[in-house]
Amino acid sequence: MWARHGRALFQDAFQRGYALPAFNIASLEMAQACVRAAEALRAPIVLQTYREEVRRVSPEVFVGMVRALAEEVRVPVLLHLDHGEGFSEIFRALRAGYGSAMWDASGRDPEEVIVEVRTHAPLVHAMGAALEVAAEGFGGEERSDPEAVAQLLEAGADVVAVAVGSRHGVESRLDLGLLARIREVARGPLALHGGSGIHPRDLEEALALGVVKVNVGTALYRVLRDYLGRPWDHHRAFYREVEAALLGVAMEYIRRTQAEGKA
Ligand code: 13P
Repeated sequence: MWARHGRALFQDAFQRGYALPAFNIASLEMAQACVRAAEALRAPIVLQTYREEVRRVSPEVFVGMVRALAEEVRVPVLLHLDHGEGFSEIFRALRAGYGSAMWDASGRDPEEVIVEVRTHAPLVHAMGAALEVAAEGFGGEERSDPEAVAQLLEAGADVVAVAVGSRHGVESRLDLGLLARIREVARGPLALHGGSGIHPRDLEEALALGVVKVNVGTALYRVLRDYLGRPWDHHRAFYREVEAALLGVAMEYIRRTQAEGKA
């Protein structure tokens, strides 16, 4: 099912205490493997494209591909722009049909970020879409300020991506104490980046603290790297095997985020 309304999916996850796995896809095989894993486990999922991916291809091509795959299954599939640089890029993706987008506001002046979110969130919502905002990077050292997270939610962000120890591309332990404080102060839907390497026990605890979206990229790219290096006598054998391996990884993260059976 093609999910146009990101907000409703994130609210459902918030109320029921699970997270949507958000898979970073770059090709048909990656998208198809994740959609098939979602259908097999009756899980709602997010497929997301890094801004570099969108620039390499186009938002329209990703919408066409993901929409066609989504319409073949019963579970909701939401297409999201990951790490959008600014609102012109975000609105370009939403106009093409994306149902959700992230504004990566790391390194910007916090007061200006609030003003921008207040200005643009109503337009995003008028298009039926959801807005995720991050005010910090995800190198592992950054830490979100609970008050600042609360302000972003109050300004209109549907989901705030929090910096609580997870890192893009590597193993991590979460600062669960900070996440609990954010939960107390902000009481809204949160996202975690660097989902591939978050310790499964920490992830489980995070689900009870308002995390509704967990980004998973590296675990999928690792499959591609492993399979690319092998000798292949036929390209179809490569695609078939790589897709089967990707499907296994996608299922693993659907289970870790407890999205299984939620669709
Ligand atoms: P990983 O590559 O560590 O899974 O992180 C993905 C991510 O956070 C995309 O924004």
